[in-house]
Parts: sequence; structure tokens; C-alpha cells
Amino acid sequence: MVGHKIQILFSPAETGIALRLAIGKKPEDIIAQVKESKLRGRGGAGFPTGLKWELVQQAKGERKFVVCNADEGEPGTFKDRILLTDHPCKIFEGMAICGYAVGAQNGVVYLRAEYRYLREGLVNAIKKMKESNYLGKNIMGSGFNFDIEIHLGAGAYVCGEETALLESLEGKRGEARNKPPYPTECGYMGCPTVVNNVETFCYVPAIMTKGAQWFSEIGTMESTGSKLFSISGDVAKPGVYELAMGSTVDVVLQLVGAKDTKAVQVGGASGICVAEKDFNKPISFESLPPGGSIIVFNKSRDMLYVLKNFMEFFVEESCGQCTPCREGTYRLLQGVEMMEQGRCSIHYLHTLRDLAQTMLISSKCGLGQLAPNPFLSIIDNFKGEILARDRVARNSKKTPVVR
Ligand SMILES: Cc1cc2nc3c(=O)[nH]c(=O)nc-3n(C[C@H](O)[C@H](O)[C@H](O)COP(=O)(O)O)c2cc1C
Ligand code: SF4
Repeated sequence: MVGHKIQILFSPAETGIALRLAIGKKPEDIIAQVKESKLRGRGGAGFPTGLKWELVQQAKGERKFVVCNADEGEPGTFKDRILLTDHPCKIFEGMAICGYAVGAQNGVVYLRAEYRYLREGLVNAIKKMKESNYLGKNIMGSGFNFDIEIHLGAGAYVCGEETALLESLEGKRGEARNKPPYPTECGYMGCPTVVNNVETFCYVPAIMTKGAQWFSEIGTMESTGSKLFSISGDVAKPGVYELAMGSTVDVVLQLVGAKDTKAVQVGGASGICVAEKDFNKPISFESLPPGGSIIVFNKSRDMLYVLKNFMEFFVEESCGQCTPCREGTYRLLQGVEMMEQGRCSIHYLHTLRDLAQTMLISSKCGLGQLAPNPFLSIIDNFKGEILARDRVARNSKKTPVVR
């Protein structure tokens, strides 16, 4: 893997500087600074981070919690792994600043089961930060106490969804909760809880030291700052890259040495599959939502096979709690298999599109709401290729089809 230098996120690199600055301020001023930076969560949905912190700060509760979502399970995403491996103190510093701002004394990192091997390094980093009095009791003589523990997941993708994560943290089956109430009001153990992505916390120290304005001047109006992308697929230089929000797909492809590109999946399996005509579009919350992963497919790839792969993933990972997702993901996969075999009529394809739209609006959690994204974008953007493939399959098998 060719890792690119991560610059904006880590200036300055020294742990403790931002935390010292933060605890010298009033909690409301920290929240105002994060709001002014217009930082949006890097876990996928792009919720404004300052607003989330304010909701928790203002929520009533004897205890409050800060949870770091390190369940990174989106296919093609490995940017948080780099942060957890090389920059754990940056994450913990961001969590401590958040704890101080919202009035929490406890932080939990929910670590993906497959990242078990990172646990020791994380525990050691916590120990070191305690020795430097950046964590623990009476941090830097301020009277503020904040401790962090690591909790290991068990391998379910849905546990990255914040309410399923909280259920799992509480020792229950990892299933999404009904919302509202949201975690900001009723989160871990029923207490107001901030759940933020690993990368989101990492921007906080830089915002504290370099200022909200500096951050908000990077990127676009609605998507400020930089963003880490895990880039893989048909590229010469795969790896984790930091780019300003609003960078176009073209820029990304050039950077990683992609040639003969046919399609780019932006935002992981639950993201959008972009065709060449849209490579000039910016990657930002207002255009192509970024997520954490970019997968590049060159002209030798069969897009129906790509789609099948994604749908198999969703069928496997659907928790089965609600019908639109449990049945919908299965029906969409079945539809793809029918197309593969030349058995899918145009009429049925329209029915599948309607089903996908129904899933978007009626699934209980983000898994079922986003699972139709690759289906709809691949079917729409690569219709010619898919229909041609369907025709070849029909002719070769002489299977009767209803059209
Ligand atoms: C199925 C599913 C999986 C998710 N996986 C992750 C994940 O691995 N990491 C993450 O930070 N957010 C993940 N999310 C988003 C979280 O629910 C939540 O929005 C996020 O942790 C909030 O942090 P942020 O505001 O910093 O983005 C997932 C959402 C869904 C629906
Ligand atoms: S949308 Fe899917 S993953 Fe989410 S609750 Fe429903 S069945 Fe479970």
C-alpha cells in the first residue's frame, strides 16, 4: 500500500497542546469554535459535529459519554485503521476535548473485531497519555477527569450504525434502535452520548490550535476541511490520501495513477457508483457524499458482477430486524442474478427500482436505507452494458423472457 502524507489533519503533531488550550476555555466556547469550523462528521452522514456536541452538553443527565466509532466495516474503507495505528493520541486528545466540552468523564472506543491486533497499541497510548496527565484525574491541574477504555466489537457491519453500536456496547444484540430518541439525548446506558467517527475526533486538535476560520477556509461552503480517503481498486498507487473536501473524482484518479477508468464507487458499498460523465464532480456532502472509501474500476470490469458483490454483502450483513431491508436486499440480489442469467424483464427491473426506492424511505436504519445506492447508480449509469449482457445471456441460453 502506498500511504500518502496526511498533512492538514496533523498540524501541529505534538499531543497535549490542543488539550491545554481547550481546558483553558469555557466549554461553550469550544463548542462555538467547532461549530464555526463547520466540521461535519466523517463517519458517513456528515452531521454537524459542533451541533451534536451542543445537544449533548445541553441534554439532562447525571452522566454523559463520548464514544469513538472505530467499527470501520464499510468495504474498501481503511482510513481509520491508519489513524488507530499511527495516531491514537490524536484521537484520544479529540475525545478528551469533546468530554470537557460536553461534560463527560468517560470515553469508549468501539473497536472493530478485525482490528483486535490494534488493541495493545491503543491501551499503551492511553497509558502514556495518563502518565503525561493528558488523561485520567485532574488533567493538567484543571480539575477535569477523563478516562478512555477500549471495547471490542464482534464482527457485525451493522454495529457501525451508532444505535446498534450502543446496544452492542451495553452487551445486547447489535441491532439498530428506533429513533428518536437520538443518542445525544438517550445514548449509552440511557445517558446523553456523543458518537463520533475516529477521523472526526482527529480534526478537533487542529481546529483548537489553528482556529475555526483556518479549517473552514479549506474545502467547500457546506463541506469544510480535508478528508481522508481509502483508495483501492484499479489504481497504480492505492492507499490513504488526505484531500480537501470538494476535490473532483478526476483529481483523485490522477493522484493515484488510475488508467482506463470506467467507474468509481464513492463512499464504499453503500455509496454511489459514478460513471465517466460525472468524473468532474466534486466529492463533498453537497455533491458526491464522501464516506471513507473510493474504489476504482477500469474498463475490463463487469459492472453487473461488481453490483452482485455489493448486494451479497448487504444480504449477509442485514440484521433482519425490519422487512424492507431483510427482504429488499435479498430481492435486489436475486434480481441481479436474474439479469446475469438473462431472466430479468424490463418490467421486473422497474419493479426492483420501485423496491429500492421503498427501501430508501422505509428501512429502519442506514444499512437498509443506503443498500439500494449501488443498485440504483449501477443500473442507471451502466444500463447499456447491463442490458447488452442480459441480451447475450438470453440468446446463449435461449431462455424465454417476458418483456
Ligand atoms: C450500517 C452502518 C454502518 C456504519 N459504520 C460506521 C463506521 O464503521 N464508523 C463510523 O464512524 N460510522 C459508521 N456509521 C455511521 C454512524 O451511524 C454514525 O453516523 C457516526 O458514527 C457518527 O459519527 P460522525 O458524526 O463523526 O460521522 C455507520 C452507519 C451505518 C448505517
Ligand atoms: S435496515 Fe437492515 S440492518 Fe437496519 S434494522 Fe432494518 S434489517 Fe436491520
